[in-house]
Amino acid sequence: MDFSETCEQSHLYREVEIPFSFAEIFFSRTDTRGKIQSGNEVFQRISGYSWGELAGRPHNIIRHEGVPRAVFWLLWDRLKKGLQTGAYVKNKSRDGRFYWVYAIITPCEGGFLSVRIKPGSAVFAVVQAEYASLVRMETEEGLPPAESAARLMARLAALGFESYDAFMAASLSAEFSGREEKLQRQPRQTLTLYERLMPSAARLLAAARRISEGYLTYRFVPLNLLVHAGQIGDAGAAIATISTNYNTLSEEIEQGLDGFMDAARTVSNTINVGAFLLATSYVQQEIASSFRQEAAMEGVDHEKESDYLDQQQAIYQEEALKSLTGIEKELQAFFRNASEMKRLASGLAAIRVMGKVESGRLSVAAVKDLIADLEAFQDIVQNGLSDILQTNDALRAGTLRLLEAYATEAA
Ligand SMILES: Cc1cc2nc3c(=O)[nH]c(=O)nc-3n(C[C@H](O)[C@H](O)[C@H](O)COP(=O)(O)O)c2cc1C
Repeated sequence: MDFSETCEQSHLYREVEIPFSFAEIFFSRTDTRGKIQSGNEVFQRISGYSWGELAGRPHNIIRHEGVPRAVFWLLWDRLKKGLQTGAYVKNKSRDGRFYWVYAIITPCEGGFLSVRIKPGSAVFAVVQAEYASLVRMETEEGLPPAESAARLMARLAALGFESYDAFMAASLSAEFSGREEKLQRQPRQTLTLYERLMPSAARLLAAARRISEGYLTYRFVPLNLLVHAGQIGDAGAAIATISTNYNTLSEEIEQGLDGFMDAARTVSNTINVGAFLLATSYVQQEIASSFRQEAAMEGVDHEKESDYLDQQQAIYQEEALKSLTGIEKELQAFFRNASEMKRLASGLAAIRVMGKVESGRLSVAAVKDLIADLEAFQDIVQNGLSDILQTNDALRAGTLRLLEAYATEAA
């Protein structure tokens, strides 16, 4: 075969997608190493393999090269830590055709359970493009999976996802809600409310981060002010007092910042994890009931598998509720941290006023500049805090509504 022929053939090559409906839902269960132990008819049929060919085989039997190695690296990294994981996966059937799924993989007794739905949201479109460019980088640059995973995380951050948990929450709730709509089902009020909490949580975190970064930018101001006060001599006595106070306050701010940021991150994470767990429990509920109605497949103990699914569903329902009730507690912890910041911020405001009066009186350029920096920092803290307090109120009200909706749904 000559070169032009190869080119022509590859040019003509088109991947073929296997059609399946939004109503179809797959599951497979593996051992701890990812070897297939069980599954349902939808999984078997769409894979194109017989059950005998799938049973006991590693799950990469349906691996498609269009999924970056980074994704599986991340998946296994999380699974080994016992963390539930959501990911878009492109699979290859026995005859070489492909199909995309959104997989929710959770640790279960003796291994892992993967439940998969058909994706179709706007997030999915973005992810497909990201996967394509990551696969190219992995191939062309020989990027090892761990480094590639770091790039994926950086890309997700650039797209506005604070963490993989934030990406999972946004992607699963988009896929879940989109699918419910396509299936003409009533939207789940609980998830709609979670979807509203997620941007508020991200906003809270962003405001806390602005304060923290502001501190880093201006952290040498009090010390520099102290040095200048020393150089001015007696005339700078008042500035010396101001800078000493400012220095003490700055140290207090520094000590409080780690806890403040941690508390903001915990609030955001609890909301993201809670949304993911809740949607997971809904999807697991659906597979548990649809599997009961499926005809038994030779080689799969239908009764035992149904029990497995029920058990997993019950565990995740409980986990989802735990996360949901945890939000309020984490918000309170964050509020305590934010109130402490507020106390420190009012100290800053007082120093700012005194500093401005003194620097006006002294008219020393360097002192003026430093006081201007102090003003800039105080503005960052003040604006950040007012944004935080507003967002905190919105989060509290939203969490209450969510708890009510959950209770109504459970009743
Ligand atoms: C429960 C479970 C389900 C999985 N489902 C898939 C899947 O649908 N497609 C896939 O390619 N890999 C899946 N994997 C990941 C595979 O185990 C494997 O990591 C991946 O196919 C990459 O294989 P490779 O490292 O040999 O390229 C699954 C793993 C587990 C634990």
